[in-house]
Amino acid sequence: MLLRLHLQTSLLIVILNCILCSSTEANLTLNGQWMISNSNKSINVEGHVPGTVTTSLVNASIIGNPYYRFNDVAYRWIAYDNWTYSRTFEVSDAIMQKDTVQLVCDGLDTVSDITINGKFVGTSENMFVRYVFNVKPMMTVGENKIVVSFRSAITYAKRKADEYMLNVPPLCPAGPQHGECHPNFIRKEQCSFSWDWGPAFIPQGIWKDIGIEAFNSPVIRDVTVVTHKGNSSIPWNVTVTAFLQASSTSSQSGHFVVRFPTLNITSKVKVHLNSALEYAVNATLSIPREAGVETWWPNGLGNQTLYMVEVTFAADNMAASRPPKVVRIGFRTVELIEDPLDNQQGQGLSFYFKINGVPVFMKGSNWIPADSFKEKVTPSVVRNLLQSAVDAHMNCLRVWGGGIYEEEFFYDIADELGIMLWHDLMFACAMYPTDAAFLASIETEVTQQVRHLQKHPSILLWAGNNENEVALAQNWYFTNSEYERFKADYLRLYVETIRPRVLAEDSSRPFLVSSPSNGKQSEAEGWLAKNPQDPNYGDVHYYNYVDDSWDWRIFPPARFASEYGYQSWPSFESLANVSIPEDWSYFSPFMQHRQHHIVGNLKMLFQIVRHFDLPESLVTCPQPKQTFLDTLYMTQVNQAMSIKTETEFYRRGRGTDANTMGALYWQLNDIWQGASWSSIEYGGKWKMLHYYAVRFFDPVIVSPFEELIDGKTSYLRVFAISDLQRPLVASLSVQLRRWDSFDVVRELNIDVNMVSIYSVFVLFLFIVYCLLLLFLCPLQRKPVRAVSIIGAKVTGVTQSESSSNVFHIQLSADSVAPFVWLEATACSGRFSDNGFMMTSRAREVQFIAWEAMTAERLQHALSVRSLNDVYASTERHL
Ligand SMILES: *[C@@H]1O[C@H](CO)[C@@H](O)[C@H](O)[C@H]1NC(C)=O
Ligand SMILES: *[C@@H]1O[C@H](CO)[C@@H](O)[C@H](O)[C@H]1NC(C)=O
Ligand SMILES: *[C@@H]1O[C@H](CO)[C@@H](O)[C@H](O)[C@H]1NC(C)=O
Ligand SMILES: *[C@@H]1O[C@H](CO)[C@@H](O)[C@H](O)[C@H]1NC(C)=O
Ligand SMILES: *[C@@H]1O[C@H](CO)[C@@H](O)[C@H](O)[C@H]1NC(C)=O
Ligand SMILES: *[C@@H]1O[C@H](CO)[C@@H](O)[C@H](O)[C@H]1NC(C)=O
Ligand SMILES: *[C@@H]1O[C@H](CO)[C@@H](O)[C@H](O)[C@H]1NC(C)=O
Ligand SMILES: *[C@@H]1O[C@H](CO)[C@@H](O)[C@H](O)[C@H]1NC(C)=O
Ligand SMILES: *[C@@H]1O[C@H](CO)[C@@H](O)[C@H](O)[C@H]1NC(C)=O
Ligand SMILES: *[C@@H]1O[C@H](CO)[C@@H](O)[C@H](O)[C@H]1NC(C)=O
Repeated sequence: MLLRLHLQTSLLIVILNCILCSSTEANLTLNGQWMISNSNKSINVEGHVPGTVTTSLVNASIIGNPYYRFNDVAYRWIAYDNWTYSRTFEVSDAIMQKDTVQLVCDGLDTVSDITINGKFVGTSENMFVRYVFNVKPMMTVGENKIVVSFRSAITYAKRKADEYMLNVPPLCPAGPQHGECHPNFIRKEQCSFSWDWGPAFIPQGIWKDIGIEAFNSPVIRDVTVVTHKGNSSIPWNVTVTAFLQASSTSSQSGHFVVRFPTLNITSKVKVHLNSALEYAVNATLSIPREAGVETWWPNGLGNQTLYMVEVTFAADNMAASRPPKVVRIGFRTVELIEDPLDNQQGQGLSFYFKINGVPVFMKGSNWIPADSFKEKVTPSVVRNLLQSAVDAHMNCLRVWGGGIYEEEFFYDIADELGIMLWHDLMFACAMYPTDAAFLASIETEVTQQVRHLQKHPSILLWAGNNENEVALAQNWYFTNSEYERFKADYLRLYVETIRPRVLAEDSSRPFLVSSPSNGKQSEAEGWLAKNPQDPNYGDVHYYNYVDDSWDWRIFPPARFASEYGYQSWPSFESLANVSIPEDWSYFSPFMQHRQHHIVGNLKMLFQIVRHFDLPESLVTCPQPKQTFLDTLYMTQVNQAMSIKTETEFYRRGRGTDANTMGALYWQLNDIWQGASWSSIEYGGKWKMLHYYAVRFFDPVIVSPFEELIDGKTSYLRVFAISDLQRPLVASLSVQLRRWDSFDVVRELNIDVNMVSIYSVFVLFLFIVYCLLLLFLCPLQRKPVRAVSIIGAKVTGVTQSESSSNVFHIQLSADSVAPFVWLEATACSGRFSDNGFMMTSRAREVQFIAWEAMTAERLQHALSVRSLNDVYASTERHL
C-alpha cells in the first residue's frame, strides 16, 4: 500500500516537473548526425556525435580498421587534414524567448572555430575544457546551421612550438613509436601522439555532448560534496556546494535546497545573488546517528554504500522550482600519512592512506585510455575492465597523466565497485610551456575537472603530473644545461598555478605535485627532490630490464610502488585479428612495428632465457607457427612470474622496515593489440598476469622466497600475509615435490597465528636440496629437460546446473605441468584459474562466459598448453 502510494506520488512529481521545466528552461541536444568534410571537400561523410572523424570514415567505408597492421601510419593523413563538422537544427520560439541562450560543448577535440549561421561564436584549444558560449544573437527561430571547423592538432602543436622560441623537450617521441611531435604544446590526450604502448591517431571530433541550453534563472553547473567525520551523536557533517551560472547580472534572491531523499534530511538556505554571473552557494548538513548512514569502503574492506543528494536553486521570482540536480556520494574520509618512521633504518617518512581511519594497503594497477577513439569506450567496456580489476582483488587504480579525465560513468562504476583512484592531472613525461595563455587554459581545465569530479568517493587523491619531477631531476630530456629555466617553469605550472586551484576546489583529499615524488620531502626540497625515486619517501616507479626479474633482491624497498612492470605480447587470437600470416614471426616487420618500446622484443627474450631455453627456430623468418605461438606464450609466462615476484616483495614489505603500503603495477589495460606491460588485452581478454594477480592480490597469501644467509646457506623463507581486518588462525603446509612425479617428497605443517591484522608470519626452513623445490630454484636452472613431455590435456567440458554461464573443464596430466594455459578462441569470458602449476593427475577449472555459450562451442574453442609442450619436439628429438 505504502509502495503504491509512493509510486503514484513520484509519477505526479515527474509530470509536474516536465510542465514546470518547459516554462523555466529549454534544452536542445545537438548530439547525433552531423556532416563531416575535409579541407579540400574531397570527402563528405555522415558522422555521429559524440565521435571522431576516424570512426566516421570507417563507418562510411572510406578507410578500413585503423588498428589493422600498419594503418596507424598509413592513415596519418587524416590527422594532418582539417575537418569540418556541420549540421542544421530547428530552434523554437520558447528557446529564443529565454534571457540566456548558450551553446554548451562538453568536449571538443581539440582546436576549432565555431560559427552559427555564419556568425563567429568562439574557438576551442583544450580538449579537457567545457566551452560555453552565449549564442542568442547568432540564432533565429526556425532553421539554424552550426559549423565546427577543426584544425590539425599536429600542425597546431608545431606552430605553437615554433612561436615559443625556446625549446620545450622532448621535441619528438622516440623513433619506434611512429609518433608526432610536440604534444606538450596542446592540451590534448598526450598519448594520442603515440606512446611506448600505443599508436598515434591524434583524432579530431566532437568527443562529448553538445547542445543548446536556454534559461531565465540561474542553473546549477556543478555540485561538490565534502563529508567530514563528526562525533558519536553526529557521525557525519556534509558540506554541499553548488556552482551556479546566472542568466543576467541583475541581482536575485532565492533558496538553495539540499535533500538526502533516502535519509529524509533537508536543508534550505536563503541566498542573495549579487551582480555576478557565477556563484558558489553552500549548505552544511549534520547527519545524526539515527539516520543510520553506512560508510563507503574500498573493495575488500566493506560495502560501497552510495547516497543520492538532490540540489535545487529556486529564485524567488520564479513561478516554481525546476527539477533538482542529483549527484551520488559516499560517506568516507581519506588521509595520507607521512610520519617519521621509527625503524632500524631510522630514516624517511611513512607513505600510506587511511580510509575511514583504517590503514589500507593499495593493491592494483595503472589505467590508460581504453581506446584511441573514445566513442568505443562504452560503459560496458569500462565496467568489464573495472570488474576484472575487482575480480583480481584490486582496490586501487591510478588514472595515468598521459591520458584523459575519463567520462563520468567511469567514476560512477569505480564508486560502485570500490576502486580508489589515484588521479593524475593530464601532464606526462615532458616539460611544458608556461606562457600566459597556456597557463590560463590549464587553470580553467583544472578548475572544471576537479570541481566536476570532486563528488566521487572513489577518487583517492590528485597528483599534478606523471614523472615530470623525476624527469627533471634525472635529466631525461637533457634539461640540465638550462636547469634553472625548467625548474622555474615546473614550479610556475604545478606549484603556483595548479596546486592552489586544486586545493581551492577540493579539500576532501590529498594533492601531490608529481608521481613519483618524495611527498613532504619533495616539498621540503623546494618541490624538486634531488632523488624523487628515494624508496624512503613517497611513491616510486621502478623498471629494470637488465637484472633477473624473478629475483626479489633487485626490487627497491619502496613505501609505495605506484608503477612497475614488464612487457608481454597479447594472445595470437588478438594479433591475428589485425595481421596476416606473413606477420606471424617474432622478428617480422609487423612485430617490430607494434613494439613501441626501444628494443622491447629483445628485452623480453633476454628475461626469458634466464629461465628457459628459447623455442627452436626463433630467429628464422618466416617462423613455424608453433614457434611464434610458443614465444608469445613465454612472454606472458615471464611477465606473470616477474610481476608476481615483485608484487609479493612489496606485500611482504608491509611487515618489514620498508613499510610498503601500495603496489600498483603498470598497466591494467591496452589501447590496441600490441606488445605492452598490460595484464588485460585490448578487448578485455586476460593475459596470464591477470590470473596471477587474482592470486598475488588475494587478501591472504603465502609468499615463499629464497634467501641466502651469511652469503652461503640458502633458506626458504615463507611469509604469510593478511590484509584482513581481523586476526587469523590457520595452518601452513609446505610440500616438496620432484618435477617428474606427483608424489610429495617432504611435508611440513605449522600452525600460524596472525594476531595483528597486517603482521606477517615469518618461517625459516632449511632447503634440503634446491632441485626438490617447486616454484623456486628449479625453474631458474632450466628444469624442463627433466619434465615429462606430456603436458596437461582437456578431458571434458560440462555446463554448471546452477549457473548457465559457468562451465566445468576437466584436465588431466601425467606429471607436473608448469604454466598450464587454457584458451577459448573467440569466446568472451575468463577462467577461474589459468597459467597454474598442475601438481595432481586431475584438476577442474571453470570458464565464466561473458556471452551466451554452450558446452559444445566451448569444447571446440578450447586449447591447452603448458611449458612441457614448448619443448616437446626438442625432447623427442633428443
Ligand atoms: C538544461 O540545462 C541546464 C544546464 O545544464 C540543466 O541544469 C537543466 O537540468 C537542463 N534541463 C533539462 C530539462 O534537461
Ligand atoms: C584532397 O585531400 C585528400 C586528403 O588529404 C587528398 O588525398 C587529395 O589528394 C586532395 N585532393 C586535391 C584535389 O587536392
Ligand atoms: C554510419 O553511417 C550511416 C549512413 O551511412 C549512418 O546512418 C549511421 O548513423 C552511421 N553510424 C555512425 C556511428 O556514425
Ligand atoms: C589546415 O589549416 C591550417 C591552418 O589554418 C593550414 O595552415 C593548413 O594548410 C590546413 N591544412 C590543409 C590540409 O588544408
Ligand atoms: C559541522 O560543520 C560545521 C561547519 O563547518 C562545524 O562548525 C561543526 O563543528 C561540524 N560538526 C561536526 C560534528 O563535525
Ligand atoms: C557532536 O557534535 C555536535 C555538532 O558539532 C555537537 O552539537 C554535539 O554536542 C557533539 N556531541 C558530542 C557527544 O560530542
Ligand atoms: C521526515 O522528516 C520529517 C521532519 O523531520 C518528519 O516529520 C517525517 O516524519 C520524516 N519522514 C519519514 C518517512 O521519516
Ligand atoms: C559557504 O559560503 C559562505 C558564504 O558565501 C562562505 O563564506 C564559506 O566559505 C562557504 N563555505 C564553504 C565550506 O565553502
Ligand atoms: C553490507 O551490506 C550488507 C547487505 O546490504 C549488509 O547486510 C551488511 O550489514 C553491510 N555491512 C556493513 C559493514 O555495513
Ligand atoms: C576481432 O575483430 C572483430 C571485428 O572487429 C571483433 O568483433 C572481435 O571481437 C575481435 N576479436 C578479438 C579477439 O580481438
